[in-house]
This record gives sequence, C-alpha cells and structure tokens, in this order.
Amino acid sequence: MAKLGIGKVSPNSMVGAVIVHQNKIIGEGYHFTDNSPQAEVLAIEDVPEHKHILLKESTIYIASEPYYIYEKTLSRIDLILKHKIPKVVISWLDHKPEISEPIVKILREAGLEVITNILPREGRFVRVLGNTFIQKKRPYIILKYAQTLDGFLAPKNTKQFWISNSFSKRLVHKWRSEIDAILVGTNTALNDNPQLDNRLYFGKSPLRIIFDQHNRLPIQLNIFDGKHNTLIINKNSDPRKYVSQLQLTFDMQMLPKLLTYLHSQNISSLLVEGGAKVLQAFVQHDLWDEARILVGNKLLKDGLKAPLLPNAPDEKYKIFDDQLFIHYNPTKNFNNS
Ligand SMILES: NC(=O)c1ccc[n+]([C@@H]2O[C@H](COP(=O)([O-])OP(=O)(O)OC[C@H]3O[C@@H](n4cnc5c(N)ncnc54)[C@H](OP(=O)(O)O)[C@@H]3O)[C@@H](O)[C@H]2O)c1
Repeated sequence: MAKLGIGKVSPNSMVGAVIVHQNKIIGEGYHFTDNSPQAEVLAIEDVPEHKHILLKESTIYIASEPYYIYEKTLSRIDLILKHKIPKVVISWLDHKPEISEPIVKILREAGLEVITNILPREGRFVRVLGNTFIQKKRPYIILKYAQTLDGFLAPKNTKQFWISNSFSKRLVHKWRSEIDAILVGTNTALNDNPQLDNRLYFGKSPLRIIFDQHNRLPIQLNIFDGKHNTLIINKNSDPRKYVSQLQLTFDMQMLPKLLTYLHSQNISSLLVEGGAKVLQAFVQHDLWDEARILVGNKLLKDGLKAPLLPNAPDEKYKIFDDQLFIHYNPTKNFNNS
C-alpha cells in the first residue's frame, strides 16, 4: 500500500496501512499526495461504519512506527488507541531506538500486542527518500548505469550503444516515474541525444538536469524539446535556451551546492544516469546512496570503464538475459539514511 504512493508524495515518505479482521482485509489506505491524510486515518475511514465494531478484534499493519506527532485531529498513535485496535504489526522501526522504543512502549503499555521489524528491507524502502531529504537536506541519490560483462559503459568515441535488453529499458522508465529528477553529463547529452523521460511506463517524467558548463549543447537536442521540465547547470546563462538554468562554479563544491539547491526545490530523489565522468564524480564525493547496475551479456574489451564501487552488490536479480545488481552505500547509516 505504501509503495502505491511512490513518485506522488515527494518530499514526504510513503506510508501505507492495512486493517485485517480474521484474515480478511476490512480497510486500507495510503498516503497518496504530499498533503493527503495519513494512511492509518484513510484505512480506518475505509472500514464501513457498521463494521467499526470489528476494529476491536483486528490487526493494523503499517510500514513504520506511528511517530507521535499531532496532526490536525489526532496523532497516529491516538487514532489506533481510540479505535481499540488490539494488534499492531510494523514492517520496520524507522527511527533511532531512543525515538522508536518509547513509541512501541506506549502501545504495549496500553495493552496492545506489537510486532516489529518483520520486513525491514521493504519498510526502509518506503521511508528512505523522505528520511534522506529531512535528515541530510539533499535528495536520495541513485546511480544507474548499464555495463558490459567486462565492465565497460560504452565503446570509445562512438554514438549511443545499447548494453541492456528491452525489459531492463522498461524497468528504467518505471524508475524514472518514481523519482523527482534525472541527471546526465555534457558528453552523454551530446553523444546519445537522450530524451531522459518516461515513455514506457505509467506516471510522470522527472525533471531533466544536464551539466553544460560551457554552453556546448546545441538547442536541437531532445532535452530542449520543451516536453518536460529541464534544468541546465552552466557557468554563464545561455539566452538561446528556453529552459531553466542554474549558474554554479564548477569546482569541488559544485555537487554539494547543486544538491542543496535541489533540496530547496523539494527534490527528494535523484537518478544519476551517466556518463562515466559524472558517475565517477558522485562516487569520489561519496555522494550516493544506492547504485542500480544493469549488466548486459555483451563484451567490449575496450572503452569507457564503469565506475568502481567500494562494495559487492547487496541484491542480485535476473532480468531475462540481463542481471541487475543493487549496491547500498556502506558509508550511509542503514537506519538513518
Ligand atoms: N552505459 C550507460 O549506462 C551509459 C550511461 C550514460 C552515458 N553512457 C556513455 O557515456 C559516454 C559519456 O561519458 P563521459 O564520461 O565521456 O561523459 P559524461 O559523464 O556524460 O559528461 C562528462 C562531462 O560533463 C561535464 N561535467 C560538468 N560537471 C561535471 C562533474 N562535476 N563531473 C563530471 N563531469 C562534469 C564535463 O564537461 P565540460 O568539460 O564541458 O564541463 C565533462 O567532461 C557516452 O558515450 C555515453 O554513451 C553510458
């Protein structure tokens, strides 16, 4: 349920709640826009009035602990207590123990059965974008690239070269529908002329961000087609380009400054799609939270080297004849990232 809010609630976290009575779902809800009511409120409202009596014998499943913040009417904890729901199951305790344990204690002392951390990976997934935005004051950064079996991103000096299969391509468009912004370097915009949008999945397209320090990019490129919001990062503004432009000094502080700017614009997730130099810059600055690497079954023997990540993949999946490796940055604290 929480995941249904992906791409819609930024910069807030995704929240979902399901109420179950004797193995039947009687109410469900999720946070569906950045100002919609909380999932627990919607799930309880979803239970028909004549069935409210069943709440006293039901279980509520929620993605993370109900943080004790007073909203317009009742806090999420008070709501559960008011309706005398006797059992709470929490996927993952989101906050540090000094915050999460007292919350669980309030529920237990009120006589509720509380089960925690049954699905930590999924629980973390729905909280991590919002948490990074609030705690680190920058977007959650996902590096995404395709590499050959022998570790290359592209041949040297050629136009666009496809490494991954069409299923992976569709998956990438799904990812684009879920994030707020996408970023590529100058050479990628020039060589590949990408559209950087979501054409193959439901939902929105992200803000396109392109580095163009010296205004080298011609206005005929697809990124200037006016179809989606586009932001050019350059040293001096270019009057020929009818898109948003942000002027930055291209020094060691450029990436942190860009991330601070994106935070000020409520951008809570950023997909960095290449090329090699841009990906390497994010790795060198340790400015990444997750990397999604699609490994195709081609060999190149020579070309642009894929970035070297400091750790082995945490998750591996098969996408037909491609492989998907997911790395989480080991320097980012799991519980607080
Ligand atoms: N396999 C994949 O998933 C994948 C994905 C994307 C691209 N590619 C391939 O990668 C190739 C391009 O990669 P590339 O490494 O040559 O170029 P790139 O990373 O796309 O762009 C690098 C250029 O961006 C500018 N830039 C501005 N700020 C930067 C910063 N902080 N860090 C790094 N670059 C910055 C610089 O140009 P100025 O000097 O003008 O400022 C730099 O030369 C293309 O052939 C493309 O097909 C492959």
